[in-house]
Amino acid sequence: MNYRRNLLITGGAGFIGSHVVRLFVNKYPEYRIINLDKLTYAGNLENLRDVESKPNYIFLKEDICDLVRMLDVFTKYKVDGVIHLAAESHVDRSITDPFTFAKTNVMGTLSLLQASKESWANDFDGKLFYHVSTDEVYGTLEFDDSLFTEEKKYDPHSPYSASKAASDHFVRAYHDTYGLPTVISNCSNNYGPYQFPEKLIPLFINNICNNKPLPVYGKGENIRDWLYVEDHARAIDLIFHKGQTGDTYNIGGFNEWKNIDLIKVIIRTVDRLLGRETGTSEKLITYVTDRAGHDLRYAIDATKLKNELGWEPTLQFEEGIENTVSWYLNNQEWLDSVTNGVYQKYYEEMYETR
Ligand code: NAD
Ligand code: TYD
Repeated sequence: MNYRRNLLITGGAGFIGSHVVRLFVNKYPEYRIINLDKLTYAGNLENLRDVESKPNYIFLKEDICDLVRMLDVFTKYKVDGVIHLAAESHVDRSITDPFTFAKTNVMGTLSLLQASKESWANDFDGKLFYHVSTDEVYGTLEFDDSLFTEEKKYDPHSPYSASKAASDHFVRAYHDTYGLPTVISNCSNNYGPYQFPEKLIPLFINNICNNKPLPVYGKGENIRDWLYVEDHARAIDLIFHKGQTGDTYNIGGFNEWKNIDLIKVIIRTVDRLLGRETGTSEKLITYVTDRAGHDLRYAIDATKLKNELGWEPTLQFEEGIENTVSWYLNNQEWLDSVTNGVYQKYYEEMYETR
């Protein structure tokens, strides 16, 4: 079958990537969606069970850092668009293992940029390299600062945000130097189904269910802006199709929460859905040593995306949290397996012996 587009989505087995792949496979049967993922601890093909048998979907277990393999993939599948999500994404891991973050997030992105440039050989008509990035590149805000706009100077503090900032710079450099058609979006904290339970919301849901301590860093006063993951996927769809080449778009929920307040909402929701007396699990809150270099506040101004492309978050936070907690409570098997590595072993064996 001749597809209208051959779209490479990297990191499609991860949290946000799986929602993007699902959206594109279902919404655009005329596109071939090539999900390329190394299946690190964070990648899980169970996240895509419902789309894996669709005719317009292909999965490739590959490492984005391998330029030779990337060039092969571009040629073999006639890739004409990239949505790049593959990354190491957890700040705490970046503090203990910064080199892996530099390798995947910087060198991996560079290798994909180079593969795009070489494969498209200056015939950039109809091509696009879309880089998915984070608001953490902008650094941190004080409580009374105004929100991050696209003009905010980069000021990353963690090895994670430094590696994402470097990758954003390389994307712009390929646009400005070689004319590669690129677009970047910087999004705030996502939450929703299929998020690996090392990030705040799924970790705390899991711990509450298992009556384990809830480790609150510092005083719990840090602020994050939270966006439901499907709203992020919709924004990516819109920017991919309607965004201005060479441009940057902020994506956010206009939904700032102090960690400790958010944690109490999660506790109330889990307790209620488990039939426990409301607030029972507050006793699990345990204040622990703060994260090194912990950014105080992230807050995105997504006005440009609203004014230029008409995007707005659709889900109210209360509804998003309810959906998310319910999903984790109903998918205990998924949660258990990703925490004990069963899926990882299964897929390692399956793809090693192909
Ligand atoms: P995730 O950690 O859940 O998933 C990352 C995926 O990338 C995994 O499937 C993993 O196997 C894959 N991967 C890692 N290294 C790879 C490599 N070398 N080659 C191929 N695949 C590799 O991450 P996520 O939370 O879904 O984030 C996706 C993207 O969105 C990242 O680029 C992240 O920086 C960005 N982002 C995330 C958030 C958030 O709140 N999670 C917010 C803004 C932006
Ligand atoms: P996280 O989900 O790791 O996202 P990010 O650091 O990229 O914003 O953390 C969200 C916030 O929650 C952040 O301020 C750190 C805090 N946090 C805790 O207090 N305890 C935890 O166990 C974790 C994982 C995070």
